[in-house]
Amino acid sequence: MPAIVLIGAQWGDEGKGKATDLLGSRLDYVVKFNGGNNAGHTVVIGTEKYALHLLPSGILSPNVIPVIANGVVVDIEVLFEELDALIARGVDVSKLKVSANAHIITAYHRTIDKVTERFLGKRQIGTTGRGIGPAYADKINRVGLRMQDLFDENILRQKVEGALDSKNHLLVKIYNRRAIEVEEIVQELLGYAERLRPMVTDTALLLHRALDEGKTVLFEGGQATMLDVDHGTYPFVTSSNATSGGAVTGSGVAPNRIDRVIAVIKAYTTRVGAGPFPTELFDEWGDFLTEKGFEFGTTTGRKRRTGWYDAPIARYSARINGVTDFVLTKLDVLTGIPSIPVCVAYDVDGVRHDEIPVSQSDFHHATPIYEEFPGWTEDITTARTFEDLPKNAQDYVLALEAMSGSRISVIGVGPGRDEIVVRHDLID
Ligand code: GDP
Ligand code: IMO
Ligand code: MG
Repeated sequence: MPAIVLIGAQWGDEGKGKATDLLGSRLDYVVKFNGGNNAGHTVVIGTEKYALHLLPSGILSPNVIPVIANGVVVDIEVLFEELDALIARGVDVSKLKVSANAHIITAYHRTIDKVTERFLGKRQIGTTGRGIGPAYADKINRVGLRMQDLFDENILRQKVEGALDSKNHLLVKIYNRRAIEVEEIVQELLGYAERLRPMVTDTALLLHRALDEGKTVLFEGGQATMLDVDHGTYPFVTSSNATSGGAVTGSGVAPNRIDRVIAVIKAYTTRVGAGPFPTELFDEWGDFLTEKGFEFGTTTGRKRRTGWYDAPIARYSARINGVTDFVLTKLDVLTGIPSIPVCVAYDVDGVRHDEIPVSQSDFHHATPIYEEFPGWTEDITTARTFEDLPKNAQDYVLALEAMSGSRISVIGVGPGRDEIVVRHDLID
């Protein structure tokens, strides 16, 4: 089973990092294909806890070759910081490969991200402030900088000049900020070139050859389906394709080579930043999920919004991504809730919608139609087979499976590496 895509089914932070790590020892390559250091993946190995942002989670597995593919936007300073932090903890990072076509996040992208958010006032998206949107905007506007530009000083200078031309007008005249010097950016970027040189390569060719040799390649998505720029809750989204299609354009590996699509989904729902969220809770159960699930952002530390499981979103993700397997995480967080509501459809102005309404305005004021499932009080963190779970937990999982459009193959019962129940193998 050589090419596997792993993505988030909801609004991010489903536990993708843990799921990747779980497969780590059986993988040859782990490829990050979208996003940048807006992602935050927490992986717990024994007593060690790792927080990764830009690097693929597979970097923690000794035999894996981690790849940052063309679809990613790279803040090089952050890349080096993250590598150095792992080196200091004894992780071998020497195998990392970075696409020559990946775009670069610079200081001006970070500045523009922050000032535009401030100017949006109450319409702001609540971005991570890492320069992600402005870097992708430059890519689409054809004024972006790519990794390969670092190795040609003249081209680099020309491109930085071109990019800063209009941005400095905007920064000075509209946003009342100081202009950014071309040379400041050029010198900073040139300073990174030598350390990057051995990592930068044609990663699409590398991955084709790996698949031809029968290697196992995992494409690890950042963000998630509902944050996808095309298929998410636009404009309250990130600026890349976080769905399975993004693995294709973001890596240069063709769609007919993908064998399996795994979607990671929480047993409830969370969201960071602004935008519609029908099952959001504002009562003590919301606080219960935040506290018990430790729902605070890995990247910005912001408190995540919390709500019940939303089956129409699961079905939507199953369709958009072609999901073959779900990994249902954080089932343990629901322990102790007497009766667990699950959103099975929405009510929009008195009309029942079984699927996500086509109009975003309708989705904004959709109210969930809930079905209730009896809870359990037994500790489930030591369960390792489906039969170890209390009957009500089993029934909850089976009910979600029936509503969600694909089988639930793995169940997370705690943050640790071994705290899982496997029903179906994810690689076979
Ligand atoms: P990602 O962005 O999808 O990789 O997810 P994050 O790492 O941002 O957030 C998921 C959090 O849930 C992390 O702190 C994980 O350690 C934790 N986690 C993952 N799976 C489980 C689980 O089954 N149970 C519990 N209690 N925590 C989990
Ligand atoms: P992982 O990979 C959750 C959200 C931000 C904001 C919106 C746009 O850990 O699941 P951006 O900085 O990308 O322009 O912000 O997207 N967001 C995430 N939310 N998990 C993430 O990544 C996210 N990456 C971006 O909060 O609402
Ligand atoms: Mg995260």
